[in-house]
This record gives sequence, C-alpha cells and structure tokens, in this order.
Amino acid sequence: MSEHIRIVEVGPRDGLQNETQYVDVSTRLGLVERLLEANVRHIEVASFVSPKWVPQMAGSAELMQRLPRKPGVHYSALAPNLKGLEAAMAAGCEEVAVFGAASESFSRRNINCSIRESLERFRTVIEQARGHQLRVRGYVSCVLGCPYEGGIEPGKVAEVALIMSEMGCHEISLGDTIGLGNPDSTRRLLEACLSVIPAAQLAGHYHDTYGMALANIVASLDLGIRTFDSSVAGLGGCPYATGASGNVATEDVVHLLHSLGYQTGIDLPKLIRAGQYISASLGRETTSRVARAMPGYGTSSAAA
Ligand code: HMG
Ligand code: MG
Repeated sequence: MSEHIRIVEVGPRDGLQNETQYVDVSTRLGLVERLLEANVRHIEVASFVSPKWVPQMAGSAELMQRLPRKPGVHYSALAPNLKGLEAAMAAGCEEVAVFGAASESFSRRNINCSIRESLERFRTVIEQARGHQLRVRGYVSCVLGCPYEGGIEPGKVAEVALIMSEMGCHEISLGDTIGLGNPDSTRRLLEACLSVIPAAQLAGHYHDTYGMALANIVASLDLGIRTFDSSVAGLGGCPYATGASGNVATEDVVHLLHSLGYQTGIDLPKLIRAGQYISASLGRETTSRVARAMPGYGTSSAAA
C-alpha cells in the first residue's frame, strides 16, 4: 500500500487573509463544505487576531460555529495571544496555531514583538490551550528568507522551532513565507531542523512565489517530511511580507503526490471544483496549474 501524505489545507485562512476583498462567512463556509466533499480532512479555517491587523478574518467565530462537525475532520485557527485563544475556545476550536518567525524584523511587523517576547507569549498560550485539551500547532515564518532581512540561518530556524516544540506544539510548520527557497536551501534547512525535531513533527509550508514550491516538496519528501500545507486555487500569502503571493496550490500538490505514488485521500476532481468555487467568488483566475490544465475535470471521483 502506498504511503500516506497529510495535507493541511490553509486556503480559508492563509489564502483569504491576503485577499484585498473581504470574503463573507457564508462563502467561506461554502469553501470549507466543498473541501470536505473532496475529502480534505485538515483545514485551517480561521484566525483570532486583531481585526485592525487582518480585517479579512473578521467573522471567524461565526464561521467556527457554523462548520459541519464530522469524525476525522480537524479544523484549526490562529491564536497569537491569550485574547485570541479565549475567542478560539469560545467558538469551539479544538486546535489552535501560534505563529512566530525566525526573523526579528518579520516578527515585529507581523505580531508587533521580538522573537523572544513572542516565545514568552506562546508559552502561556500553549500551556492554557493544552490545559483545556486543545492541540497547538506552531508556525515558524521566513524559514528560507525574509522580505526585510534577506537570508535566514537554518540554525536560527531550528532553534526557534525546537523551543516551540518543547513548549508543547505537536507539530512545527516551516513557512517559506515569500517563496525564496530552492531544493538545496530547503535540504539545508531541514537537515538543521531534523537534527533536533523528528520528521513526523515537522510540516513544509511552501509558497510558490518563484515557482519553487513543488521542487521543495520533493526535496522534503526525500528527507522524510510527510505533512505539507497548501492552499486551494493557490490562494494566499502574507499581508506583511512584500511579494508573498501564493501558497502552493493544493491541486498541484495532490497531483504531484498521486503521480509519485503517494496517497492523500483527497479527490482531485472535487478539489478542483472547490478551487473553481472560491476563484469564481473572488472573480479571479486560479493559480493552480493543474486546475488550469483540467478545467472540466470536476465530474468523476478519483480519490487516490
Ligand atoms: P498589538 O497591537 O501589539 O496588541 O498587536 P495589543 O495587545 O497591544 O492590543 C492592541 C489592540 O488589539 C487592542 O484593542 C486589543 O484588544 C486587540 P484596542 O484596545 O486597541 O481596541 N487585540 C485583539 N483583538 C482580537 N483578537 C486578538 C487580539 N489581540 C489584541 N487576538 C497582535 C499584537 C498579535 C494582536 C497583532 O499584531 C496581530 O493581530 N497580528 C496578526 C498578524 C497576522 O495575523 N498575520 C498573518 C498570520 S502569519 C502568516 O500568515 C504566516 C504563516 O502563514 C506562515 C507562513 O506563511 O510563513 C503562519
Ligand atoms: Mg503561508
């Protein structure tokens, strides 16, 4: 039997947070429902951050409350501080994510504090979340380069990732926030992180800004990484990172993985339909090359 790769769909959060237009809660719910139809099982749906910083995520509590709950389906939401955690718990979240960075400048611009201060804040959030039986995921941003500082040392990423892991994050997602990585730098990054954290607790979160994300996923597969974040229709980026256009498209990742003989459990035709739905809602083209190559592919079932 072929090996399973876990996909964490981040389009409803990482994707839509970066759209200039506000997408209403019903449309976001419609996207999640279509992702579920495609058998996507891990979806980052919401973000409990300051609406002054990211107005696109307003309505996260309402969305959480309206989501269909199904066995085997895992929803998560960003929670940068205790205020965010409390809001997430009140809305019924079972998993939250804290998000730090390996770059001081990015940390300041994204969450208004230094890396050290952010880690202190996360410690409290993680302790309280775990005390209430919530799982906590940890993100490290700018792992392969920063829009303000340029190159980032793999050792610095590994250091931040290890601290978050030891604080109780069940998984650390390594974010190439502005897509500067290539397979060589990805390998060096992963070798540093794998020297302190097992592969099963790491995820690759690659942006396709320069068309490198799939190559970086292949390099990561070679080193044993088995969880990848991606965004349907290639939605997304980060509002505080100049040039950060586009998480790698989930359709392209699923196609790549199935063609390499891995299974994801995801139904590609239905996934393409989910991408068509949100692209039509936004009034723009998908950036998924697979979806563009197979626009009429949304009719039969072909889950691998
Ligand atoms: P701050 O201004 O330092 O916070 O922001 P504060 O504690 O001084 O509070 C200021 C105001 O915000 C107060 O309201 C608080 O109540 C409110 P006021 O009294 O002025 O009316 N506030 C909140 N409101 C709602 N929810 C909250 C919350 N916290 C405070 N949780 C803060 C600090 C962290 C809040 C802010 O910087 C923030 O919200 N940043 C979020 C930025 C963000 O979401 N960025 C995108 C996610 S990161 C990303 O996308 C990268 C990733 O995908 C990986 C990758 O791609 O590499 C994860
Ligand atoms: Mg991202």
